[in-house]
This record gives sequence, C-alpha cells and structure tokens, in this order.
Amino acid sequence: MDTAKTDSAGESAKLAAKSPAGLEGIVAASSRIGDVDGVNGILIYQGYNIHDLAEHSTFEEVVYLLWHERLPTQEELDELKKQLARHQNPPANVIEMMRHLPLKDAAPMDVVRTAVSALALYDKDCCDTTPEGALRTATKLTAQLPVLVAALERLRNDQEPVAPKPELGIAANFLYMLRGEMPQEREARMFDVALILHADHELNASTFTSRVVAATLADMYGAVTAAIAALAGPLHGGANTEVMKMLLEIESVDQVEPFITKALADKRKIMGFGHRVYKTEDPRATWLRKFSEELGKAKGDAKWYEMSRKVEEVIMREKKLYPNVDFYSASTYYQMGLALDLYTPIFAISRISGWTGHILEQYANNRLIRPRAEYTGPRDVPYTPIGER
Ligand code: ACO
Repeated sequence: MDTAKTDSAGESAKLAAKSPAGLEGIVAASSRIGDVDGVNGILIYQGYNIHDLAEHSTFEEVVYLLWHERLPTQEELDELKKQLARHQNPPANVIEMMRHLPLKDAAPMDVVRTAVSALALYDKDCCDTTPEGALRTATKLTAQLPVLVAALERLRNDQEPVAPKPELGIAANFLYMLRGEMPQEREARMFDVALILHADHELNASTFTSRVVAATLADMYGAVTAAIAALAGPLHGGANTEVMKMLLEIESVDQVEPFITKALADKRKIMGFGHRVYKTEDPRATWLRKFSEELGKAKGDAKWYEMSRKVEEVIMREKKLYPNVDFYSASTYYQMGLALDLYTPIFAISRISGWTGHILEQYANNRLIRPRAEYTGPRDVPYTPIGER
C-alpha cells in the first residue's frame, strides 16, 4: 500500500470535514472591534450596542471608537476632527487622473477602487505599518474617500468638484460636496446615522479581505483597495443598488406580489434579504426602515417605503427571510436624491472605518493568514508530452 497517497487523500478528507462551504461558522480571527449576535439580532462595536451609537453618537465618534477601543473625550474628538480636516484633500494628481477615466461608463466602485490604489503612489508614508504610521494612513483614507466619491459624481456630470468645508462632519460634508449646497440638518443627521450603521460588521467578506492582505504586511492602501473590490459584489455591498433597481422595475405596490412570486419561482435571489449570520431582524435595517418611512412622509409620497414594506411581507411569508442593511438603505438614499450607483461607494465611505480598524488590529498582532484548501482534483497523473495530447 502506498502510504504517501493515503496520507494526501486522508489529509484532504480531514480538511474537507472542517471546511463548510463559504467558511460558514468558521472563526477566522479574534477581534475586539465588533460582534454580530445573529440569533438575537444584536450588533456591537467595542461593546456598545449599535442602537445606542445610532441614537447618541456621531460617525466621527464611532471612527475613534473603532480605532482606539473606546469613545473619545471631547478633546480627543476635536483632535480627530482636526486631523480628518487636515488630511481631507486628496492629492491633486489623483483628481486629475480621475478626469481621464471613462467616468460616464465606469462603475463608481471601480473608479473608487482605482483612485484609492493611486493614493498610495502620492503618499511617501504609504508603507508605514507601525501603529502611528498606520493610524495616519487610516486618517487620510477616512478623510479622503468621501471627497473622491463626491468628486467622481461631480466630474461624471460635467461639474467641477466642490472643495470640502473643514468645519463640517463627514456626513454633512459629503452631501455638501455632492450638491454644492448645504444639506438640511435632519437629512445630514440621517446620513450620519447611516454611516454609523455601516461602519463595522465583524468578519464580513470585505473586512476579511482587508485583513488577509494586511496580514502579508502589505500597506493599508493595498488592503483597502482589495476590500473595496470585495464590497462591490452584489452578494455583499453591491446589493443596495440592486434593491433600488428592483423597486424601480416593480413600479407600484400592487405589482410587488406578482413580481416577487415570479422572481422566487424563477429561483432569483431577492437583493437586500437574507444574511449569513442574522437569523432575525438585522438591527441596522430597523433604523433604515424608519428613515425610509420618514423621508416618504416628508415628501408626501410614501410609495417607495410602502413598496418596500410589501416586498418584506411577501419575502417573509414565502421564504422566512429578513431584510438586511442593504434593503432599506436603498429607498432611504433614493429619497435623498442620491444616484443609484453611489449607494455602494457610500457604504465604503462608512466601512473604511471598520476596515482600517481591523487592519490596525491585524498589524498590531500579526500572523500571516494562510488557510488550506481541500484538494478535489486528480493525483499522480502521468505527464503527456504536448505532441501526444
Ligand atoms: N432571496 C431568495 N432566497 C434566498 C435569499 C434571497 N435574498 N437569500 C438566501 N436565500 C435562500 C437561498 O436560495 C438558499 O435556499 P436553498 O437552501 O433552498 O438553496 C438559502 O436561502 C440559503 O442561502 P445562501 O445563499 O446559501 O446563504 P448564504 O449565507 O450563503 O448567503 C447572502 C447570504 C449572500 C447574504 C444571501 O442571503 C443573498 O444572496 N442575499 C441577497 C444579496 C444581499 O442582499 N446581499 C447583502 C448581504 S448584507 C451585506 O453584505 C452588507
């Protein structure tokens, strides 16, 4: 008996037994940053319940929390805001490069990914992975990402980018830069809460990606570029845009039932529903549902909210699935007048805080992430010379 062969096959079988599809339920890192209790629908950042943070805090406070493991004092928050304002202007060359990209046809997530990758080329400090150096890069990335997204929206609409106002918070500043006019206070607060809700979500696909890249001791720009690529996919952050496309396709409340019934019969996945971890209501959806309703009421047109409610009702009845964060963010952003394909870049503007928090944590206690694959191919295949194949 060939023991070498038995060992290879035996090891593969052992690995397979430990490898559920999609790594479901596998613990692949330890982290102090955030936790998802999928059974009870509880999301915490550094021990704080997301509902308390959404109620009382600002996105900047949450950024500090994710980076420093505690909420800031007023002085620390002021200093963070000062640093964010100081670093918020991306290198002029990156904005210039964006002008030459095919902005009218390109997916904004692709533009953002390219621009973030380019930022590294203009940052002499880009490869500094010491705690101080990496924190500086995290500050630059968090400050500049909203400016890049707003600039791409303006440029593709043949408008010049609007410079950020250093005195505004990230949420209000983003809406201001997009439109060139100050947002209303309530809208800016809703957007700020949306950023809080999207900031971190434990080891989701894009955060895991960022940690894998960081664990090779690659620089933070590279890790975030990879995370943006992962977030863009329709099974992850890309779902919010797809939700709104679906609602627009459905058109009216009375079309919801036939549309969803047919989509399910065709075995289509309904975007914005289901989650790998939540087996109950996603607490982030609770807030976004309220915002969708409030915006509909304020506009005197509850159509998008009512359609969403009806979709939720049908999916619950037919599939027992709950909406995830992407479902009600779609109608919320739509009613704020934001372009459909900006929803995922907006997700990135928030999640950059979680990604960078996880990357800082990874650098601080690093070991290369290198799992095994269950080999399912053939073994011991005799080589056939090319002329004989
Ligand atoms: N619509 C219809 N059926 C669904 C949906 C859905 N949205 N989600 C899951 N199901 C069904 C699947 O078809 C499958 O049924 P089956 O066992 O009969 O084949 C079962 O539920 C399990 O689904 P999986 O896709 O295996 O679950 P998984 O944990 O791998 O995927 C995911 C989770 C990707 C979120 C999935 O629910 C999905 O594709 N949802 C739609 C996309 C989406 O909204 N993504 C955003 C997630 S939140 C975020 O990333 C920010």
